[in-house]
Amino acid sequence: MIIKPKGTVDITGKEAKVWKYVEEVIDSVMEKYNYNYIRTPIFESSELFHRGIGDSTDIVTKETYDFKDRGDRNLTLRPEGTAGVVRSFVENKMYGNANLPIKVYYNGTMYRYERPQKGRLRELSQYGVECLGSSDPMMDAEVISLSFNINKMLGLDDVVVHINSLGDSDSRNSYREALKTYFKPYLDDLCDDCKERFNKNPLRIIDCKIDSNKSYFKDAPKILDFLNVESKEHFDKVCEYLDLLEVKYVVDPYIVRGLDYYNHTVFELKTESTNLALGGGGRYDKLVGNLDGPETPCVGYAGGIDRLVELLMNEKKFSNVRDDIDAFLMYVNEDEKKYAIYLANLLRMSGFVVETEYNNKSLKSQFKRADYFNSKYLIILNSNDLNDGLVTVKNNKTKEEEKIMIEYLIYYFDEHISDDNQDVDLESYCHSHDKRGDCNE
Ligand code: HAM
Repeated sequence: MIIKPKGTVDITGKEAKVWKYVEEVIDSVMEKYNYNYIRTPIFESSELFHRGIGDSTDIVTKETYDFKDRGDRNLTLRPEGTAGVVRSFVENKMYGNANLPIKVYYNGTMYRYERPQKGRLRELSQYGVECLGSSDPMMDAEVISLSFNINKMLGLDDVVVHINSLGDSDSRNSYREALKTYFKPYLDDLCDDCKERFNKNPLRIIDCKIDSNKSYFKDAPKILDFLNVESKEHFDKVCEYLDLLEVKYVVDPYIVRGLDYYNHTVFELKTESTNLALGGGGRYDKLVGNLDGPETPCVGYAGGIDRLVELLMNEKKFSNVRDDIDAFLMYVNEDEKKYAIYLANLLRMSGFVVETEYNNKSLKSQFKRADYFNSKYLIILNSNDLNDGLVTVKNNKTKEEEKIMIEYLIYYFDEHISDDNQDVDLESYCHSHDKRGDCNE
């Protein structure tokens, strides 16, 4: 038997339904915020990630899936979505668009050679947004509140945004020096990774999983004390807008992020009770320039879909996921079967979710199969009724049944089956959360 590679998953059954539901919510929210869907390649030239994410990051040094194709090109399976979007922005000269910022979103698989464990996969799925062409803190706040609202729409109230600022390059340079001065006496005590970070990227020492509990970490310098006036103003504005948008956030000086492209705002969405990272993002004003485009201020976010689905499954927050069908068509002989085939098609094309029997099993097992699918109605076909143009329709809950003329079947279902097809109802959500009555005035 061939088994799936380590760090990959098969999504099936109920979990697959929850997955589709999560994607529907994401699509729906993105549409309301006017983000356009973008698809970029799953593999890109390796150089993109080396230059884009950073040569000293864990992702690039330890986690990429690199390969040579048959034409001897160095390619990499994308470990994240931002670099590809920026490459596309530059390659397609989207920066020439007069209507900047460009706001795009994506949803797809990413590949990181990490040690597989709970919530950490080698093939992972992310949804993400990237806004290219605005330096306004309003843009940062929109991206943060959008990511917060997606989780809220999914019923996850336990989510808090951890936000920090890495400032501009001047602020970061003085902070880097302060960190080096502070950690120098402890250098021998730091883990091997941090010893290397000390020279290459001292900011990453701050969020080291191994060292961060050591006593001297709590007195380490905090970046917010090193922000220059412009950087501080930017950060304060983002926080002011987040207050306006009623986003639950905490200022967290330990958020530095594992990708090199960030400046100013950085943030992560975490569950309050378990500290699970549901997503992260920030501003990356230098990346377009680093990838040969014109300097373009950008901000974005990516959330992990695998973790979201796992959380929803664990917390049984999937009442919005449809788990029934409208009708099950039952038959015994060949004539009845032809009607089953015909009526299933007719009802499906009229918008109803319909199932029938495919293995010529007994009526008894068809009843069981209908229950397995939680069928609301049973349509029982029998030759005598069919000769009179009738079918028996049984409400599978109340067990009441009646004979219906075949030509009225669709009207019958139109009338009896409420429209519970689980469309994401963002409008009613917003109205119920609109505490300020004057919002639309
Ligand atoms: P990231 O923090 O590397 O950011 O990933 C974002 C989210 O993807 C994580 O918070 C987590 O939920 C999920 N994730 C990451 N690695 C794994 C894994 N091995 N298994 C399961 N889930 C995982 C980025 O990728 C940036 N591109 C975000 C961004 C967009 N910044 C600006 N724009």
